[in-house]
Amino acid sequence: MHTEQALALLGGLTPSQFMKRHWQKKPLLVRNAIPDFVPCVGRAELVALAGEEGVESRLIVDSPKGWKMKHGPFPKRSLPAFSQKKWTFLVQGVDLHHDGVHAMLQQFRFVPDARLDDVMISYATDGGGVGPHFDSYDVFLLQAHGQRRWRIGRNKDLSLQPGVPLKILQNFEAEEEFVLNPGDMLYLPPKYAHDGVAVGECMTWSIGFRAPQEGELARELLLGLADEAFDGVGDALYRDPKQIAVSSPAAIPSSLSGFARQVVDKALKNPQLLDSLLGEYLTEPKANVWFEGPQAEPDLSAGVQLDRRTKMMYDDKHLFINGESFKVGGRDAVGLRQLADDRAITGQTFKILSTDAKLALLDWACAGWLKPV
Ligand code: SIN
Ligand code: CO
Repeated sequence: MHTEQALALLGGLTPSQFMKRHWQKKPLLVRNAIPDFVPCVGRAELVALAGEEGVESRLIVDSPKGWKMKHGPFPKRSLPAFSQKKWTFLVQGVDLHHDGVHAMLQQFRFVPDARLDDVMISYATDGGGVGPHFDSYDVFLLQAHGQRRWRIGRNKDLSLQPGVPLKILQNFEAEEEFVLNPGDMLYLPPKYAHDGVAVGECMTWSIGFRAPQEGELARELLLGLADEAFDGVGDALYRDPKQIAVSSPAAIPSSLSGFARQVVDKALKNPQLLDSLLGEYLTEPKANVWFEGPQAEPDLSAGVQLDRRTKMMYDDKHLFINGESFKVGGRDAVGLRQLADDRAITGQTFKILSTDAKLALLDWACAGWLKPV
């Protein structure tokens, strides 16, 4: 991805300028971000996806009795009629289920893959929406079909209405308002309050991001470290040749607390282990993702391409794919990093890989993680 090339997608900014000026900082409205945009997913296809087991979907109705929310799957004809106003259904992770949506997401890879989450697609009838709220993550809201009126503001007061089945701001104050047409896009940083209401039937694609949360990441890494600690830290026993006789036997000796601190420090002092645990965590497929391998052993000699569900990343020493880590160096590192960045390599690049790397690729192909081009 060229980071210095001006993009219509970003209103004529280069990815570098966008990241510097807007990312995590301030909104950006882009008219005609994708000129003549025609969504590759239609209403019927989205309804079908919302009916599938293993696809995360929600139905939100703004009824006279208040907000109502239901989780999918929604069997055929269980959604309200499209002639009924003020309802919307939202399908999460559509990029995992649809090659065209996955391809569109690639345009946003000027942000590291580790931060990309998914494409959520909503479809609303006139007046429909999810109410004024804020999200914890950055989002690009791409208008795909019909019109949506967005009102946005830097609400200081982020308190939520109590007793409502979804996050609705108690005191939403809009500062700006715009109606988006197909192909227009609005970027919002985390916590920026917004309310999008459909003007007639409308479809919106949300390109969403994720950010590890301190506590959750610490738990994940520490759980991984705990699994490794038994072997990694050693089996030396605590020794106390200088222990004096005690009159308070229930008191824990301070040298024993020191020993405890020491063993934990030792377990933490393994930066490579921490890096591989981080990569495994970041590339772990979502719970509803499963892969199907091919019937026959594939021939990869003409090049390979990652499956749209595969997550592949790397750091200085490792390569990570779908929750697994591998130490790589030399020409294998070059070829496999190229596969992670471009999501494909040619037969020429495949040819220069070591036998071990080729065998690993074959394993991953048999698991359905990648396929011949
Ligand atoms: C929607 O598409 O209806 C909601 C998207 C959002 O506000 O984040
Ligand atoms: Co939102």
